[in-house]
Amino acid sequence: MTNSAIQVQDLSFRWQENASVLQSCSLSVPEGEFWMLLGTNGSGKSTLLRLLMGLLTPQSGTIYMNPPVGFVFQNPDRQLVMPTVGADIAFGLVQENLTPSQVRQRVAEALSAVNLLELERRPIYALSGGQKQRIAIAGAIARHCNVLLLDEPTALLDPDTQLELVAQVQRLVKSRGLTALWVTHRLEELNYCDGAFLLQGGQVVDKGDPQTLKARLLETNSPKA
Ligand SMILES: Nc1ncnc2c1ncn2[C@@H]1O[C@H](COP(=O)(O)OP(=O)(O)O)[C@@H](O)[C@H]1O
Ligand SMILES: [Mg+2]
Repeated sequence: MTNSAIQVQDLSFRWQENASVLQSCSLSVPEGEFWMLLGTNGSGKSTLLRLLMGLLTPQSGTIYMNPPVGFVFQNPDRQLVMPTVGADIAFGLVQENLTPSQVRQRVAEALSAVNLLELERRPIYALSGGQKQRIAIAGAIARHCNVLLLDEPTALLDPDTQLELVAQVQRLVKSRGLTALWVTHRLEELNYCDGAFLLQGGQVVDKGDPQTLKARLLETNSPKA
């Protein structure tokens, strides 16, 4: 059996006074695979990712992830904090006590991984939305993250850039042995992943082969004759 790099067991969470968002929710992502998390608006996808990131505390349940873990948000402007690309990626390495030459090497290697080495000195404001998301991913690669969590990273991108980004993450997962969990509600993105979960009513109600899941969702959503 393969090991799981992300494991969620019986996770329950409610915002104070409100109805439960997650009710005994469980899922696991095998090491080295690219999985997606689907669900309608308000089904709890972002809440689940925030629980995984440790930004929220569950009422019950357990979470295991193979560290280090990197995050990519929907809006890159909330994530990139330094004036230039190179400085932003280097900033993420501050806690690692590396020498300046090690930092330079990590930054260059991470930018090469997302094919943006030529942008190292570029100001963040001069990047396109897709480039910003690739820089956020490079930040995680520079930290040598094993697990990547992405919350609708293509939501603000145009359709071409959207598919380029998902294809790039697919390649990175395979070439670097990463494990990624990607939140989306866009069915066309399912063509790039190894497996998918459907979140509904606070639980994973369907999981497995992305094409099977896609076919089922299309059938459910299609207007009845
Ligand atoms: N900060 C918050 N305080 C209270 N309720 C929230 C908060 N954030 C989200 N919710 C509620 O939690 C539920 C799940 O939201 P969310 O995880 O953002 O869903 P999704 O990402 O799948 O669209 C929704 O009912 C939403 O209104
Ligand atoms: Mg969300």
